[in-house]
Order: sequence, then structure tokens, then C-alpha cells
Amino acid sequence: MELLEALRLQWEWGGDEALLDAPQDRRAGSPPKQPVPPGPVPTPMAARRAAANAASALPMGREQAREIADGCATLEALEAALRDFSGCALRDTATQLVFADGAADARLIIVGEAPGAEEDRAGRPFVGPAGQLLDKMLASIGLDRRQVRIVNTVPWRPPGNRAPTEAELNVCLPFLHRQIALIAPRGLLALGAVAAKTLLPAEMGRQGIRRLRGVWREVEIPGLPAPLPCLPSYHPAYLLRTPLAKAESWQDLLRLREWLEA
Ligand code: URA
Repeated sequence: MELLEALRLQWEWGGDEALLDAPQDRRAGSPPKQPVPPGPVPTPMAARRAAANAASALPMGREQAREIADGCATLEALEAALRDFSGCALRDTATQLVFADGAADARLIIVGEAPGAEEDRAGRPFVGPAGQLLDKMLASIGLDRRQVRIVNTVPWRPPGNRAPTEAELNVCLPFLHRQIALIAPRGLLALGAVAAKTLLPAEMGRQGIRRLRGVWREVEIPGLPAPLPCLPSYHPAYLLRTPLAKAESWQDLLRLREWLEA
């Protein structure tokens, strides 16, 4: 039973891939070094090839990600490009890509934080408990998920449901921007501090979600001719933990409905 619990803990923390054939106790110091058999001395050409291979194995930066994303003329091409994209290590620990859900011509794009365990299994965003609450929130203002577009700041589940790191957010941002530009909605709903920080200008994003929520802000999306209105609000997972915040969240939903009807 104890072993089962230890295994579950490892799995929840994202340790779900075997890297070695035999267990290794890393607290016990380094294993004795095996003598390295003498190999062929590399020729200058082989050395250059090895250096080039090492360079191409470096994680892709934001600029490369931007080039790939901006080269996609359709949502299908963007999804395929993300599937092939090896510049974000989250892809290695996730089960699959969680690209988006909802309409390709939505007037509103809802941006969450990152897929969780259920989303990782289903390949669709917001299908777990937070997603069920989001469905109820949308229904309360006469919307359902087929009328909006639902995406996340990163399209792969961070191991153990940890928050995405700055580097992961940074390298995935061009793909998020491109998806928004291809859909060209009327506005955005940013759910939670991570989505707000990712979309809003840096100096504004540094403020907490309690300060930012409930007020329409402007965000620049590369490829769109004018800034888009963006309403930050609480994340449904936060509302599940903090039911008292639902009153403020309801105010935000009313503001959103008013704006959609205008
Ligand atoms: N939380 C998110 O931010 N996104 C999901 O897709 C699920 C839970």
C-alpha cells in the first residue's frame, strides 16, 4: 500500500517516465565512473557536424516560435505546427497537445492557464471540475462553449499541475497570439492571474488578479490592426476553492454579457 502511495505521489508530481533501466539512488553520491574505451579521434569535419547537431538540439527560443507560428495561415496549420514543435519541454511530459475547443470564428476567446490531468487525457481544454464550472458560468449569461473559443496560455499539461514557468509561457506565446490573430475575435476573457499576466502589457500584468479583474483592458495582438479589449476575471479553479469570490465573478460575467450585447 505504501509503495502504491509513493507511486501515486510520483505520478502526480509528473514523474511518469522511466529514464533508466535500473533505479538509481541519487542521494547516495555519484556511481563509480566506468573507464571510457578509447574511441576514434574526431576529424575537424566530424567535430563541426557534432557542434551543429548540438546547436540544433538547443531549445527553440521565442523568435523561432514566432517565425513558425506567423508562418501558419490557418488554424489547422497552427495546430499541426504546434504538434511538431519541440521548443517547449512540457510536450515531453504531457500525454498530448490540448490545442483549443469551440468555434473557429468566435466573437470571444477565453484564455485559461494550462491543461490539467483531465484535459491532458481528453485533449480538450476545460473538461475537468474547473471546466464544468466554466460551462455553468457561460450558461448563466446565455452562452455555451460551442459559441466561444477556449484556449490556454500553454497547450500542454505542466507535470503535477504546477504553474507554467516564465520560459514556457514565453515560448508558447507566439502560438497563442497567432491563434487569436487568425480568429480575430471582438474580445478576450482572461481567466486567472497567469492568463492576465501573459496577455496584458508587462507593467499592468504585474498587478494581481484582484486588482485587474472586472475592468476592460486593451491588449496588442501581433497581426491584428487594433488592440483588443480583454476582461480579466477569476479562474474557475480559484472559485472552486474560494466560493466567496463568486459574487465578484458574477459581476464580471454581467459586464461581459452587457458588452457582448452592445
Ligand atoms: N484550468 C485551465 O486553466 N485550463 C484548463 O484547460 C483546465 C483547467
